[in-house]
Amino acid sequence: LITFMGTRKLSSNHVQYFKQLLGSESAVIDGVSKDASADLEAFNCDWLRKYRGHTKLVLRPKSTEEVSKIVKYCNDNMLAVVPQGGNTGLVGGSIPVFDEIIVSTARMNSIRSFDEMSGILVADAGCILEVVDQYLAGRSHIFPLDLGAKGSCHLGGNVSTNAGGLRLLRYGSLHGNVLGVEVVVPDGTIVDELSTLRKNNTGYDLKQLFIGAEGTIGIITGVSILCPQRPQAVNVAYLGLESFGKAQLAFREAKRHLSEILSAFELMDGISQELVERVAKKKPPLEGKHPFYCLIETSGSNKEHDDEKLEKYLEFVLSNDIISDGVLAQDETQVQSLWSWREGIPECLNHWGGVYKYDVSIPLPELYQLVDDTRERLSSAGLIGDDESLPVVGVVGYGHMGDSNLHLNVPTRRFDRDVEKELEPFVYEWIQKRNGSISAEHGLGIAKKPFIGYSRSRKMLDMMKDIKKLYDPNGIMNPYKYI
Ligand code: FAD
Ligand code: MLT
Ligand code: ZN
Repeated sequence: LITFMGTRKLSSNHVQYFKQLLGSESAVIDGVSKDASADLEAFNCDWLRKYRGHTKLVLRPKSTEEVSKIVKYCNDNMLAVVPQGGNTGLVGGSIPVFDEIIVSTARMNSIRSFDEMSGILVADAGCILEVVDQYLAGRSHIFPLDLGAKGSCHLGGNVSTNAGGLRLLRYGSLHGNVLGVEVVVPDGTIVDELSTLRKNNTGYDLKQLFIGAEGTIGIITGVSILCPQRPQAVNVAYLGLESFGKAQLAFREAKRHLSEILSAFELMDGISQELVERVAKKKPPLEGKHPFYCLIETSGSNKEHDDEKLEKYLEFVLSNDIISDGVLAQDETQVQSLWSWREGIPECLNHWGGVYKYDVSIPLPELYQLVDDTRERLSSAGLIGDDESLPVVGVVGYGHMGDSNLHLNVPTRRFDRDVEKELEPFVYEWIQKRNGSISAEHGLGIAKKPFIGYSRSRKMLDMMKDIKKLYDPNGIMNPYKYI
């Protein structure tokens, strides 16, 4: 299979080479040798259970030098490679399309250094996000990215997808926070750009190319990143609202009243919360049902000051009929509990047969219109309902309202051609008309690759292809994806 696009088929000689190179048993998961009995399922299947690869070899190097030797050998022998971190990506990027070799960062998980004065952390690409955040918590700092998959995703995967997450509104994008990367490029060279400088205007800022490159021009082995001071006071409020228009007003007022302490403003529609209630079997935070919900988080250094600001905000939005109801977390357990109504959505939607996911940027006033229009379209086609014979469970909207980033999700009882035909290219054309982005934060992978032209010009695509050809002339790095 690997002969496609000029790369070659894996042989037992290749496997032998890797076994000798990496030594330890657990470093090579082999499904090639005659006596191989490896269980490769977890590496060949994505979080959404939508994409299935056929790798017969997973390599788990322990050091950058080992990654370098693997990649050089693969390049010299025209063997295709897929970098894999925590395998939580939502666009199929970490799954081989055919039988590409998976290079997993799971065993590269050391924190290399942390400077409490500057807040600069240098860590291996395979460190798990939550583990790093806990390490930083013990040193009064916070990782500038947080997302629902934090218990599994790796820093290298985060940087390679340029993940956005729940607090981008406060801490900004990884393009700003990542100070340096260590990368193994396709000829095996180790590019050590693990700068710990805040400012460095000496020439092109080439590290930016690897942030969001999804493993197409190299394997990130180390990351240097600026981490903010951990806030001492965190408040979370969960609000019920009667319309998306009111959610926009609530957002505007949140910026006005809470300004520098606002750290998240998330949107959840009524159906997303009903589905969480149904699947997680939890008691909702508010008594009645509301068409929309918002989760607001503040983070600051002075609890009294933040409490006073948030109380004033809540008084204002309640007395001006902007919100219908609301609840404020009283302790850390309640903070976690309110967040679970937002962070738990992806997992609950994954409860049925499959989910069609669209992660889009649209100007805020029209953000939710896409959900209404999609629901209308699938209803007219007679595809939605409680009846088990209908494919679509519901049309759901939630996301990072503070960043104008909507997650339009269509949970289905099974992946279904008719549903797909109604959704695509309809959703992409809808986005294009509003000059939005068809991939706000999840990347392109295999899922969005055919649609990149809806958000990028011909010229930009040509420039991207030139970069790919320049850095990966043999096309071994995560082939068939991205562009
Ligand atoms: P993987 O899934 O293993 O890989 C993702 C891509 O990066 C692949 O193309 C892979 O080849 C490449 N890659 C991985 N490691 C490397 C490396 N070291 N060098 C080069 N390329 C590499 N995303 C958001 O942006 N915001 C969210 O809020 C968010 N929430 C999520 C919540 C849930 C429940 C889930 C399941 C996913 C969520 N995601 C979110 C998507 C996903 O978690 C992120 O994209 C995450 O950054 C991927 O990290 P990973 O280690 O799992 O990468
Ligand atoms: C989120 O914001 O929850 C993630 O991006 C995952 C998703 O879109 O489902
Ligand atoms: Zn998201």
